[in-house]
Amino acid sequence: MQTVHKIEELRKIVSSARNADKSVGLVPTMGYFHEGHLSLMRAARRENDLVVASIFVNPIQFGAGEDLDKYPRDLDRDAQLAESVGVDVIFTPSSEEMYPSSFSTYLDVEKITDALCGARRPGHFRGVATVVLKLLNIVQPDRAYFGMKDYQQLKVIQRMVADLNVPVDIVPMPIVRESDGLAMSSRNSYLSPEERKSALILSKSLARAQELIDGGVTSGEELQHEIEEFIAGEPLAKIEYVSVVHSVTLESVSNVTDKILLALCVHIGKTRLIDNALLTRG
Ligand code: PAJ
Repeated sequence: MQTVHKIEELRKIVSSARNADKSVGLVPTMGYFHEGHLSLMRAARRENDLVVASIFVNPIQFGAGEDLDKYPRDLDRDAQLAESVGVDVIFTPSSEEMYPSSFSTYLDVEKITDALCGARRPGHFRGVATVVLKLLNIVQPDRAYFGMKDYQQLKVIQRMVADLNVPVDIVPMPIVRESDGLAMSSRNSYLSPEERKSALILSKSLARAQELIDGGVTSGEELQHEIEEFIAGEPLAKIEYVSVVHSVTLESVSNVTDKILLALCVHIGKTRLIDNALLTRG
């Protein structure tokens, strides 16, 4: 496995693979790997000849007062884990490499960013879309892999790729969870043992919502209120949002139909956690 810091060097590796008629898979990440990241890399390994994983804590997707400075980093451990699942190249550029001082082009994906995290983290998806488009342009992969854990992010990237005719296949991957249900996240490392227990309220809420639907709840608003009350019973949890939305448009729905996403953002102490589930009726 190679570790590459420069765009030009990565381009050379990818174009020689392409010249040899090899397919290329890309897994964009911010590092501090867990099984969620590794599941994307394993899928990329199965489906492509050359697998590139990027590790870049993208400064432009963090707002003022967010956790850019304390975001967990461990490149040596990440490199070992990536190698163990068969990644060929780790691309880990500096901020200056990605955003030289002359940098002035940003990408805004509208509408789908109006809800959920997009409504609460101004500029976040602008930063995500910009860096992902840059990575897609640098690597020009056949396939790029994204987790459904960050469901809105996946939708933003699918929209961008469709709107701008980017020739890549975006592959969505299921949420990987700890054995007790907590969705894996690099940010779980911020949780104290007590908070770690409270954090289960997110996955429990998703299960509770499915029970409510199975029990006959059909109103999106009622479902939202029931889940808000359920979460309010957990003393360390503070709700940022509980949203019942259409799984394609991410717009609020009044009726629970077959294409519903329940998306949660809950703070446990100082840690902001998200989770979601596609809910089914009948
Ligand atoms: P990061 O949070 O490191 O996540 C990298 C990829 O791993 C994303 O596609 C994310 O959805 C996926 N992922 C994270 N946790 C997961 C889990 N429990 N199960 C399945 N997949 C999971 O998301 C980002 O980085 C950044 O915003 C990025 C796209 C790299 C742009 O900077």
